[in-house]
Amino acid sequence: MLRVLVLVSGGGTNLQAILDKVENGTITDVEIVKVISNNYGAFALERAKKAGVEAEVVSPKDYPDREAFYAGLLQAVDAAKPDLIVLAGFLVVIPPEMIRAYAGKIINIHPSLIPSFCGTGYYGLKVHEAALKRGVKLTGATVHFVDEGTDTGPIILQKAVAVQKGDTPEVLQRRVMEEAEWEILPQAIQMIAHGQV
Ligand code: GRF
Repeated sequence: MLRVLVLVSGGGTNLQAILDKVENGTITDVEIVKVISNNYGAFALERAKKAGVEAEVVSPKDYPDREAFYAGLLQAVDAAKPDLIVLAGFLVVIPPEMIRAYAGKIINIHPSLIPSFCGTGYYGLKVHEAALKRGVKLTGATVHFVDEGTDTGPIILQKAVAVQKGDTPEVLQRRVMEEAEWEILPQAIQMIAHGQV
């Protein structure tokens, strides 16, 4: 049974996709042991509670400085004894000591086809604004291992999504989530749980 910890910051639709697929048996031999958010207001926390998954907030607001926050985050992560850490819309840069402690055990979902539209400053709607500005015909999402860089770790899965005429960033973001993110993140977890990565 793979012990999976999910880190969230916002709406939690990727978390919901994972929870749903564990519930309906698409994902097997996986237990979502805990959800941690850096944001008290994250709706993802409601989704965890509804699914009966332990949820905890580790907020920078509760710490005197960044170092103390990172130590608090690592403590909460260690307490979950995870085999795999999933960053699902988590907007905090993972501290190097956590990367080292969990080398090869942290994955992230990014809403573009890496190496396009990724790296510092490319998150959320900004990714889709950049894709529309460049005029790409295909975008999509990427699941990758997290290393010390930003969106630079080894790629696990990608799925392409067509950009349509008249797309706004919001419409494109939703399509990328529905058609790509919510498919490949659970798929990557299932593959890792069964030694296929
Ligand atoms: C979205 O921008 C998504 O594309 C990215 O993280 C953000 C929040 O996703 N992966 P979620 O609804 O909190 O999973």
